[in-house]
Amino acid sequence: MATHIVALGGSLLRPEEADQRSMWFGQLRQLAVHFEGNGRKLGIVVGGGLPAREAITLARSSFTDSYRLDTVGISATRLNATILQQSLLDVGCKVSPTIPTSTQEATELLESHNIVIMGGTTPGHTTDAVAVALARDCGAPHCVIATNVTHVHDCDPRENPDAKPLEEITLTQLAEITGTEPLGPGESAAVDPVAVKWAMKAGIRLAVLDGRDLSILEDALEGKPFVGTLVKAE
Ligand code: UTP
Repeated sequence: MATHIVALGGSLLRPEEADQRSMWFGQLRQLAVHFEGNGRKLGIVVGGGLPAREAITLARSSFTDSYRLDTVGISATRLNATILQQSLLDVGCKVSPTIPTSTQEATELLESHNIVIMGGTTPGHTTDAVAVALARDCGAPHCVIATNVTHVHDCDPRENPDAKPLEEITLTQLAEITGTEPLGPGESAAVDPVAVKWAMKAGIRLAVLDGRDLSILEDALEGKPFVGTLVKAE
């Protein structure tokens, strides 16, 4: 049975408008029901978004050790994972009742459940890297990174208004854009450099897309052409 892995950026769980929030959750629930109805398995790794950043900022007023700050961030990713897990259990999906704390545990849980939802694992990377590691461990050939930008750009669009969206690149080209330095606690980038490094090592193809529009995520999961950046293993 085909297993698909998605990194779901934490910001996606909190669209600014309240009615957009319930619409987004409703569409995600539909997507999950449809997906498992077609006999496929889904591993979702949820990011920490706003609660992670808030918690890390709060913790920073008391200590600065990166390992400890990352530990705080991880707990926020698990909070978001729990919201999604309970939402999918509520519509009767066969979701693991346990939130795994490692990708090995998640891989085992995927043997007996259609859907496994998790957050972070250990300090030193973000949930993008966890999703790539989960794809590697459960033998998935690709990993979807659903975020709140439409594409990977050739340079940071927050700093450069002329940044160009890229439709197809290689992991080597992506590594040139993200750099290889791991991000600090709570720092964000189009794709976590550690995730890129692990994807290169395991030969995992990435699809980076805008998860605010779940029809794009569905296209990528169905193997159809999608709006976003396809990152080929080579
Ligand atoms: P996220 O995965 O949420 O980072 O982890 P992000 O890239 O900001 O993603 P969005 O905003 O949700 O899309 C939040 C923080 O939690 C810690 C790191 O400090 C990270 O910055 N973390 C997360 C870990 O240390 N290890 C993990 O496995 C996951």
